[in-house]
Parts: sequence; structure tokens; C-alpha cells
Amino acid sequence: MPIFLDSGCLKEIEKYLKMGIIRGVTTNPTILLKDGVTGGMKGVRARSLEIARLIDPLPLSVEVTTNDPLQMRLQAQELAAMAANIIVKITIHGPNGEQQNLEVIHELEGERGIRVNVTAMMSAQQCLLAAMAGATYVSLFGGRIANMGYNPCEEITKVRKVLDDFNLKAKIVIGSTREVLNVIEWLGAGAHFVTVVPNLLEVMIVHPYSKETVRMFLADAARMETRFDSEHLIPPEEQNCKKEETVIAPSKPKLVPQEQKD
Ligand code: E4P
Repeated sequence: MPIFLDSGCLKEIEKYLKMGIIRGVTTNPTILLKDGVTGGMKGVRARSLEIARLIDPLPLSVEVTTNDPLQMRLQAQELAAMAANIIVKITIHGPNGEQQNLEVIHELEGERGIRVNVTAMMSAQQCLLAAMAGATYVSLFGGRIANMGYNPCEEITKVRKVLDDFNLKAKIVIGSTREVLNVIEWLGAGAHFVTVVPNLLEVMIVHPYSKETVRMFLADAARMETRFDSEHLIPPEEQNCKKEETVIAPSKPKLVPQEQKD
């Protein structure tokens, strides 16, 4: 499944890695701060190295912490030199629309052999330009696009079409996932990867109906155990097969609020 985990938490990453359901990890300064990273770039490097080693050879995207072009280049080189599976994340432009980021991206990809994930993009146009500059990944923020009143699926489909039509190497990472439905919908629209936060991944796995069904299986398995001694020797024609007890479909599940989940 083409899923990245949007997390800086080693415990969560290890959990889903062991399940075999993630194909890489993405981070950004907001995620790393939330997951306890401090100490500026030193802290970012330390946590990134731990994650990169844990998931090797899967890719880890780590974002630079500056918008100064020289510092971006230096941080990118430092990060990429730490581990072969680190991809450097750079925003499409600066906080005030500064445009030198594309030049940095082009240089890192073209001249220094550093793979770049261009991030914080909200439109197909931005993704096209990032891909033309040489980006390995183009990160589109689906949830934020939807919050602005646009349809993320339309943007994804447009990006995928131009990437394919013009044979650009960039792969689409759609992030900013808000609902379980986003994952399948956005992959269906043409995204190569969806990056998902751990909470959402848990909701993707655990379904109330599945819980009810598993409970039924286990309860009946337990009942079978207690009846084994007394009934297992009864000849087939005398066995009491109660058709009326066969469950064809489980009853409607009760939707349990998040805080009451077990
Ligand atoms: C993607 O690479 C980003 O890290 C992330 O998905 C951004 O999501 P947000 O809108 O929840 O900040």
C-alpha cells in the first residue's frame, strides 16, 4: 500500500513498520516539535538519524528549518549526508512568496544529487513547477486545499496528468489528510503516495463492524471449547445443527465515540 506515515514519533513509526503497512515517513518542523524534538537543527538531525536508521531503506522526508537560501543549501547537504534514505523537504516558496527556493531545489537535485520533496503546495500549478525544477516528490496538502473550498481530487488528477504527459520524474505525495476516506479517494485520483498521521491509520485499521464480528467469532470459539467433551463423539446424523442460530449478517454496530474506544 502506497502509504507514508506523517510522524516523528519513533514508537509509532516502529509500530506501523512492523505491520508492513508503511512505505516511508514524512516529517515537518510542526510534527517534530509535537513529537518532542527540541534543540533546533541539532535536535532535528538527531531524531532524523534515528528514524532513518529505523526505516532504512524506506525514505524519510526531513524539512529544512530556514528560508535563507544559503542556510537551506547547507542544511540540505548536512541532512542528505547523514543517511542515503533521507529526502530533503523544501517549501515551494518563502513565507512572503520569496521565489529563490526553486533555484535551490534545482541546484540540489541537478548538481548535488540530493533528492528533494517540495512541500506546502496547494495547487497543480505549483506542483508542475516543482517537478520541472527537478523535485523527486511534490507534496500537495489535500486537507488544506479542501479547507479553502477546492476539491483536492481535481488538483491531484491534474498534477498526475502533467507529470505523465511530460514524463517528469516527480511522484505525488498528498498530505494533510483529515479523514479516512481521503486515503482511497486521493490514491484513486492519481496520487502516488498518501501521507497519514498515526491516529488516522488506527481508524483505517479498526472498524466497529470488524470488532463486533471478531467478538462473535471468539465467543462462539469459546462456546465450542466447553461443548467439545460432551458432543464431539455424536454421529453426524444426530448432530444438532441449529440453522436458526447461523448469523448471516451482523447487526448494526453501535458507533462508539473516540474517547470511549477500548
Ligand atoms: C505533508 O508532508 C505534511 O507533513 C502534512 O501532511 C501537513 O499536514 P497538515 O495540514 O495537517 O499540517
